[in-house]
Amino acid sequence: MTTNDQSKWDRQHGDADGAKAASRFLQEIIDSDHWAIAPGRALDIACGKGRNALFLASRGFQVTAMDISSVGLEQGRKQADESLLSIAWQQTDLEQLRLGSAEYDLIVNINYLQRSLIPQIKAAVKTGGHVIFDTYLIDQQVIGHPKNPDYLLLHNELLDHFRDFRVLFYREGKFVDGTGPSFRAGIFAQRRR
Ligand SMILES: C[S@@+](CC[C@H](N)C(=O)[O-])C[C@H]1O[C@@H](n2cnc3c(N)ncnc32)[C@H](O)[C@@H]1O
Repeated sequence: MTTNDQSKWDRQHGDADGAKAASRFLQEIIDSDHWAIAPGRALDIACGKGRNALFLASRGFQVTAMDISSVGLEQGRKQADESLLSIAWQQTDLEQLRLGSAEYDLIVNINYLQRSLIPQIKAAVKTGGHVIFDTYLIDQQVIGHPKNPDYLLLHNELLDHFRDFRVLFYREGKFVDGTGPSFRAGIFAQRRR
């Protein structure tokens, strides 16, 4: 990530309204009766303005939220203060980050793809902990952004990355999540005990 990339994201978070509600995929899993996910330590990867971190904090998780954009983080912090939610906001370049081992009960990665980070995410989840990962699929480049394949998942790719986890839920296709329809893949997986 270059200084230019960071400025681009700062501008984007400063200009655009973007989605305010948490990811629908995340909400459906956390609020569902199908899986009892006890609140614990959660990490929101590339949190942006913190919509998903705020949602998790509102459900009782102790959340750390990381992003490179100080503008995004500041908006999240403001919203958290207004909502009386406590979140640890960290300005971090995820391309330089080394996550610790078995630190989190839940790691959430929404609308961000950095393939080199996936092994670290898997190692940073505690045994029995969960990962919720949902982002754009390769088909998305036909209807909108992103277009760069570096930021787009291949069909079944998440299943391959999380082959050694227990896959509790997986889906691929065109879904309305955020501001409009997009091609997405999402996985909910548990680190085996
Ligand atoms: C599409 S936004 C998604 C934000 C959030 N996850 C959500 O679903 O609302 C992508 C985010 O990735 C962040 N980002 C991009 N490259 C990054 C990097 N190298 N380190 C940390 N954050 C980065 C951007 O600042 C931006 O907030």
